[in-house]
Amino acid sequence: MHSVKVLLYIGAFVTAWSITTDGHFVPTAKNVRWVSLDFQTILTWTVEESEHTYSVLYSAGKSEDWKEVRDCTQTSESECDLTQELIPLDRDYEADIRTESHDFYGEFGMDYDFPHTNAPAFNPYKESNISALEFSLMDLNESTVIINIKHPLISVNVRQKETIKDILKFDLKYKISYYKSGSTGKREKISDSSTANVSGLDAGQIYCFMVAAFIPSRPKANQHGAWSTLQCRDGDTHLLQDLSPGAWVGIIFILITVIIIFITVAALYCRRNQQRHNNLQTSQSSVPI
Ligand SMILES: *[C@@H]1O[C@H](CO)[C@@H](O)[C@H](O)[C@H]1NC(C)=O
Ligand SMILES: *[C@@H]1O[C@H](CO)[C@@H](O)[C@H](O)[C@H]1NC(C)=O
Repeated sequence: MHSVKVLLYIGAFVTAWSITTDGHFVPTAKNVRWVSLDFQTILTWTVEESEHTYSVLYSAGKSEDWKEVRDCTQTSESECDLTQELIPLDRDYEADIRTESHDFYGEFGMDYDFPHTNAPAFNPYKESNISALEFSLMDLNESTVIINIKHPLISVNVRQKETIKDILKFDLKYKISYYKSGSTGKREKISDSSTANVSGLDAGQIYCFMVAAFIPSRPKANQHGAWSTLQCRDGDTHLLQDLSPGAWVGIIFILITVIIIFITVAALYCRRNQQRHNNLQTSQSSVPI
């Protein structure tokens, strides 16, 4: 009877041990993904329980060493900023999120293969999203505008303030999308320079423009930055010439109405003044001096 009990205990222990080491009872990081904008790169994940901590390791490629991220060691957060680590930018980085527990160290020592989740490989240079650019619009003449594109500063913590142009250099091109107001056809122009001319516009027409960073050296899905806000060039506003006869009738009607109201108000005001004047005179004359 005693030996059966012992066997049962051993069985239970082995089962529990194998389940634990299989990772069934250990919450590993789920939904691991990279979020990267203007080369600021964060690894995010979700966790089921909070009693474990997580450590993030990364390597700069298949045959490179794994390094710990100091700020993301035994963290209870569910994100890790790797912006400072992923340098140089143009590498296929790998990352791993390890579930940690003090029990593991106690029972299995440092060599224990921790339950972990691998992140998909990520290359910041090729995959970081690019935010919308700003630009100014200037008429050169009636058929040409000059578009001047600005690169906002990216403040990447410790790294020097840079713009995406400092990072992407000649890989950075610009896509300009424009259309004539009232028509549905859009035209596109790609510019190597942040100052671009768009010519061949119809004189006197309103045109609207948008710009985006464009990086043709990247894989298709990552070539486009976000589109800027729309800016329109004013057409010639020969407003009075372009008015329809109906509009003229409307304008004349409104003018006449305004004049009538003005005359009426003025007349009323004069009459009231006149009356008051008269009243004053009568009241004065009735007082004996
Ligand atoms: C880039 O933006 C797209 C669209 O918003 C998003 O689906 C993708 O996850 C982003 N990629 C990164 C690396 O942040
Ligand atoms: C407008 O300027 C462009 C660029 O300088 C020039 O090529 C074009 O001939 C000009 N058009 C007119 C109508 O002046």
